[in-house]
Amino acid sequence: MQEKFQVKNSLSKENKYLILIEQLKNLLSTDDKLISNLANLSAAIMQTFQNLNWVGFYIKENNHLYLGPFQGKVACTKIEIGKGVCGTSAAKKETIIVPNVYEFPGHIFCDSDSKSEIVVPIIINNSVFGVLDIDSPEFNQFDETDKKYLEEIIEHLKTLITKYELFSNSEKMASTKI
Ligand code: SME
Repeated sequence: MQEKFQVKNSLSKENKYLILIEQLKNLLSTDDKLISNLANLSAAIMQTFQNLNWVGFYIKENNHLYLGPFQGKVACTKIEIGKGVCGTSAAKKETIIVPNVYEFPGHIFCDSDSKSEIVVPIIINNSVFGVLDIDSPEFNQFDETDKKYLEEIIEHLKTLITKYELFSNSEKMASTKI
């Protein structure tokens, strides 16, 4: 199914998201590793939109976010919770749209091509799992349409992550000697 992933360039942003979301139902699966799903999700978003230079995940561990699967130039590997756009989104547990990265106090420059950015947190049971970070080389590229559909994509991803957590909990329980 992965080989067939395709969204036409000529569609409107909203229609691209609708087709992307439809295709993600086949692309993302608990038959695959979570890390593989995160890698393919970042590639699917990058492939769908022409105006992006970086799409990827940072995963939380203790008080930091660590670089996960991504598409784009090499990036910062560790961001403190509360710092930069990613750390702020994780601290506030809310999506942040940055129309102009030069105007965001404390913005962390990983890729000097980036001019606007959107970060969507992945919150599971009120805890931060990580964030999805998307950058564009153009100013003002993200709006409420991106927020709405990216949050919908993250909802779908959260359902998958929860299934992995259920699997790993039941494996732990199964291997616990009573
Ligand atoms: N700009 C982000 C850092 C990550 S890179 O853009 C990939 C931030 O300020 O948190």
